[in-house]
Amino acid sequence: MKIIVAGTGFVGLTHAAILSESGHEVYAYDIDKTKIAAYNSGKREKIERYVNEPGLASVIAETLNRYLFFVGQNGIEEVIEGTEAIFLCLPTPPNLDGSTNLSYYTNAVKYLGGLLAKRQDQRRVVLVNKSTVPIGTARMLQEILNEQQVPNFGVASNPEFLPEGDAVEKSRRPDRLVLGADTEEDFRILRNTYSQFVNHVRIAYIETTPETAEAIKYVANTLLLTYISFWNGVGARLGETFDNLRMEDLKRGVTSDVRISTWGSYVSNGAGGSCFGKDIQSLIYQLRRKSQAYSLLQDVYDINEYQKTYLVDRAVNEAGFNFNNKTIALLGLSFKKRTNDMRDSSSLKVVEALLGRGVKAIQTYDPLATEEAKHFFDPGKNNLFEKISYCDNVADAIRNSDALFITTDWEEFRGVAGTIEKLVKPPYLVMDGRRMIANYDYLLEKGYSYLAVGSKLMTPE
Ligand SMILES: NC(=O)c1ccc[n+]([C@@H]2O[C@H](COP(=O)([O-])OP(=O)(O)OC[C@H]3O[C@@H](n4cnc5c(N)ncnc54)[C@H](O)[C@@H]3O)[C@@H](O)[C@H]2O)c1
Repeated sequence: MKIIVAGTGFVGLTHAAILSESGHEVYAYDIDKTKIAAYNSGKREKIERYVNEPGLASVIAETLNRYLFFVGQNGIEEVIEGTEAIFLCLPTPPNLDGSTNLSYYTNAVKYLGGLLAKRQDQRRVVLVNKSTVPIGTARMLQEILNEQQVPNFGVASNPEFLPEGDAVEKSRRPDRLVLGADTEEDFRILRNTYSQFVNHVRIAYIETTPETAEAIKYVANTLLLTYISFWNGVGARLGETFDNLRMEDLKRGVTSDVRISTWGSYVSNGAGGSCFGKDIQSLIYQLRRKSQAYSLLQDVYDINEYQKTYLVDRAVNEAGFNFNNKTIALLGLSFKKRTNDMRDSSSLKVVEALLGRGVKAIQTYDPLATEEAKHFFDPGKNNLFEKISYCDNVADAIRNSDALFITTDWEEFRGVAGTIEKLVKPPYLVMDGRRMIANYDYLLEKGYSYLAVGSKLMTPE
């Protein structure tokens, strides 16, 4: 099949690569020309500057210019003839009121509609929303394309569920495939696109309406965040309040019930990433606009935001730590391990809180996200960002610091106790946003203080 993918960020690039791997002729385009040039180079380091996902650069190198073609927006005009499906993998950021900014969508669809209206070959073409879009968006696209008098087209919703850090693996073996369309003709095109998944025993294959498909994505994401916020809002609070309460035993005791998920049963300094926050805000807005109750979702969102920085406040209130003029080691910048993505990462809020409390310097280390972080913490935007330095390893971040904050769950941070002992003398405060340090009692023995999500402050005897 000839397929166009509009937008080559995390979702679009992965989707285009995986489709090309199964033998479709895929034309991926983006309005960002620098991305297209990087992908066209086929070079791992250039591709990973934009999307750093295990295995993705290899798939691209394998299929580039055979099944997979990257073109600028103008190049699409030449390949539109004969295209059967166009996947829209575009940004859907939040507006200030929580609603979804659909301007990228409407711009892209108007552009594509103009080309589709002039096609010679008038075979059926389906425009498929892969982005997370409010319920009713496919219908809106239909109206735009009808206004442009595009002949013989359908609209569909095929939400993406891939987790960052595991994008290639999960795209090759998704746990579900959700297709929302209106006609058998459109379903047939989508089934051809995904023929390897349609009758797969381990993949839930769901054909439904576009509106239901759109809703599935929002409900799934907000439910995941609800579960995370439950553990943070209830589990962590219990562990921080009652003496002698062991968080790990609490989790095992509760999640040994098969009805209760182990996934998400951790306590942390909040969940970040480009999706959870914006999706729950969008669903709140969608319900509010229809005068429906949304207080549960609002609480879930608020708890998650609160978690991101409350350890900084606890350090002041419980440990009596004065951040003013101190040097803080910050381990982790990406929103979770195995990605360089920093969108909505807890580290952004932690840095803001630390700078707000007058620290002298923040020495950061992240195995992947340093280059990305430099864009977020551009001193040109805010001169306080000059206080941030980027280290090549954990030891350099810790050396000469007065306290440590762990924001991301990179595995290598688990063993940090030994590095602390070697490089910094107590009194020294370790703030653990991920409960990563299993041998914290060793730290206590050596005279360091330990403040973790889900536990009371621990100080040396
Ligand atoms: N990132 C994830 O893990 C993930 C997972 C599931 C769903 N989603 C959803 O998928 C959507 C895309 O997310 P993403 O992370 O890939 O976003 P992204 O910002 O990384 O990528 C979007 C791309 O679209 C391009 N673009 C913007 N306007 C365009 C236009 N008119 N024509 C062509 N290209 C255009 C941008 O330049 C950018 O490269 C969002 O709705 C998101 O919620 C994301």
